[in-house]
Order: sequence, then structure tokens, then C-alpha cells
Amino acid sequence: MTRVLVLGGTADARALAERLAARGLAVTLSLAGRTAAPRLPDGCAVRSGGFGGAAGLADWLRADGTGVLVDATHPFARRISANAAAAGAAAAVPLVVLDRPPWAAVDGDRWTRVATMAEAAAALGATPRRVFLAVGRQEAGAFRAAPQHRYLVRSVEPVATGDLPPTATTILARGPFAEVDERRLLIDHAIEVVVAKNSGGAATDGMIAAARALGLPAVLVDRAAVAGALASVGEAEAAVLHCAALAKRVV
Ligand SMILES: NC(=O)c1ccc[n+]([C@@H]2O[C@H](COP(=O)([O-])OP(=O)(O)OC[C@H]3O[C@@H](n4cnc5c(N)ncnc54)[C@H](OP(=O)(O)O)[C@@H]3O)[C@@H](O)[C@H]2O)c1
Repeated sequence: MTRVLVLGGTADARALAERLAARGLAVTLSLAGRTAAPRLPDGCAVRSGGFGGAAGLADWLRADGTGVLVDATHPFARRISANAAAAGAAAAVPLVVLDRPPWAAVDGDRWTRVATMAEAAAALGATPRRVFLAVGRQEAGAFRAAPQHRYLVRSVEPVATGDLPPTATTILARGPFAEVDERRLLIDHAIEVVVAKNSGGAATDGMIAAARALGLPAVLVDRAAVAGALASVGEAEAAVLHCAALAKRVV
């Protein structure tokens, strides 16, 4: 039975791991271990914590006898993706990359697109505004450079106080979030501008749709596209099954 390691931390990774396990593959889902109570997949082994860089991941693949490596990590998790590419090559394990396409602006969107969190903080301007910040706890610190604004910060895990801008209210919640609830949140907190990562997929689309519906501006942080990546769970599943079938023929 082909062994598959899925590097996860996303809803897509969990869904893909479950689908591959249901197809009879021996799947291990790997999590970084940052979330206290992650949602776990059915029918798969789960491991947690870093591998010790690309070399550590390559060692893990060899020891496990992994037949296919899948990078289904979040598009902003760049280090683990670079490690996956290097480790797959070093251990001669085929790599399948799932990278959902970014959201595209539609008529009525008032988006400012930037490349970094620092640019996003600067794009908020000099005039104090009420800002909804949905960039994850590791990135909130960049907005300390724009302390004139009042922030509503939403994250899955608590943000360390030292990483928060001086005037910040925090909410702990895990998506997906429905547009109707997001609209209520924006109205209740009199939000004037939304800042989000352009992560793509459905998970935070509710907030983008709510900003659109209310005519609010949004600052979206872009990420680089990954060459050769597959855009959906279904395509990634087919690619893994193809690799597994090829591996069987070679053996
Ligand atoms: N960045 C985001 O916006 C975001 C959003 C939602 C979910 N996530 C998920 O949260 C995790 C951490 O994100 P990040 O941005 O901190 O990643 P990162 O900067 O790319 O990775 C930092 C280190 O964490 C370890 N790591 C990351 N993902 C791992 C995984 N799936 N399994 C085992 N080790 C992993 C690796 O340690 P070693 O070098 O020791 O192996 C990696 O070098 C990822 O799994 C990602 O899918 C990230």
C-alpha cells in the first residue's frame, strides 16, 4: 500500500487526506502543532511538530518509506513549502502541490493589493481608521507600525500582547465564516477598512463578500504563485493516485 505524507494545516489538506485514505492509501497528515485543538481527519494517522528543516523532512520520508509527498499547506506558509520541494528532491519522492488560486476582484470591490504586511500597514494611511485585521497571529505585529488606527484582530489562537498594535480588540474564532455574520461584525464594530491575506479558497471569503456588500475598502496581501501547483482537492487527489499507480508498476 502506498504511503502518503500530506503536509497540512488547512481545511483542504484535511479533506484531501480523508479522500486519499478512503481510496485505500496509507495517509499521514502532518501538522505544525501550533493549534491547540486542531480538527483531525478520519481514517488517517496524524503527526505533529516540525521535522527539523528540509534535511529532517527528507530523513522522515526515507524512514517512513513515503511513496508520495503532498504539500497542502497554507499559501502563506512559505518555509515548509520550500522544505517540501527540497526534501522531495533529496529523498526522490514525488511531490504534489495543492495551491488554491487567489481571490480575484469583481465589480464593486475597493481593493488595494500589496505584497507584504508592512505595505498593508502603510496602505491604511495617516488618518486614524477602524480596521478589521484577519491576517493571523504571526502577522499582527506588523501593524504596530501604524498605531494611529483602532484594530479588531481575529485569530484562531491568542496573539501575544507584545505583538498587538496599542489599540486592539481581539476575537478568537476559527472559520469558515458566513457572509451574513461577517457583515454583522463589520457593522457592530463600525469597521472602515478590512485587511486580509489573499489566501484564496472558501474559508475567509465571507469577509471579502461582506466588505463588498457594505462598500468597504479592503487591503489584500498577495502571495507568489507556485509553478506546477494544482488548484483543487480533486486535482490533487487524482495526481496522488496517479503517482501511487506508477509507483506500483515500478515495484
Ligand atoms: N501562514 C498562514 O497564514 C497560515 C494560515 C492557516 C494555516 N497555516 C498552517 O499553519 C502551519 C504553520 O504555518 P507557518 O506560516 O508558520 O509555516 P512556515 O513558516 O512555512 O513553517 C515554519 C516551520 O513550521 C514547521 N511546519 C510548518 N507546517 C508544518 C506541517 N504541516 N507539518 C510539520 N511541520 C510544519 C516547519 O518546521 P521544520 O522546519 O522544523 O520542519 C517549518 O519550517 C502550516 O502547516 C500552515 O499550513 C498557516
